Amino acid sequence: MPMNDKATAPMSGRSQPDRAAVLRDRRLAVIQNALATAMMSRVRDARTGAAEFERLASELAGLALWTACRDLALVESTVPGFAANQIRAHELTERIAGVVILRAGLVFTSPFRRLLPDAPLHQVGVRRDERTLAASVYTHNLPNRKAWADRVLILDPMLATGGSAVSTIALVRSSHEGPIDVVSLIAAPVGVATVLAVDAGCRVHTVALDDRLDERGYIEPGLGDAGDRAFGTLQY
Ligand code: PRP
Ligand code: URA
Repeated sequence: MPMNDKATAPMSGRSQPDRAAVLRDRRLAVIQNALATAMMSRVRDARTGAAEFERLASELAGLALWTACRDLALVESTVPGFAANQIRAHELTERIAGVVILRAGLVFTSPFRRLLPDAPLHQVGVRRDERTLAASVYTHNLPNRKAWADRVLILDPMLATGGSAVSTIALVRSSHEGPIDVVSLIAAPVGVATVLAVDAGCRVHTVALDDRLDERGYIEPGLGDAGDRAFGTLQY
């Protein structure tokens, strides 16, 4: 979305919850990590170019994925230990699937592949109308059968109004009944509240919970348009 259209103000007059209100919900996890906070400052810095932005955002996306996976179900097994005996081990039991929201969600691709190499990674194309902030799905490749995963991770660095996430959740819910984790880098309180209200089986994990949306629907302090920052397509 271009950053230079100041004529439209779709959030003008809309009330928004504050950080404290959404932090009360235990389905929200905000990552506490000093290194991540410092790295996020470089991501927010408007002087950071596309290649470095993508590198740092992918690093933080990996951290968010680790956090989202912190309590996955495990089953006990055994593996050969160093003394030729069998030792107790653990394996994941849940079938995890990822769903990237295009295009900024692509920063999750490399950490997802690295951490969960056997898990499928689907794509949903969602466009946010810059005048109304309404989200619409323009493409997707989700399976058209039921029970294709036990848990679905929806991956998008920005959770602003929550519209893009809610559209993706609706699509996923047509064939998936299990838990859904929305994994983001920066979330606005109103986006978190919207997602958690729409689906009781959803959790939200984010590296940063920012203050609010500005009148145009950008997260404050935020980082601007994540897709444009990651792909170097900023409009000047
Ligand atoms: C951005 C971002 C999210 C969405 C969040 O996408 O990548 O998908 O906005 O906003 P929301 O919570 O208000 O829906 P955008 O539509 O700008 O597409 P892009 O990723 O292609 O830039
Ligand atoms: N989408 C973005 O990329 N950035 C915002 O601040 C809000 C929505």
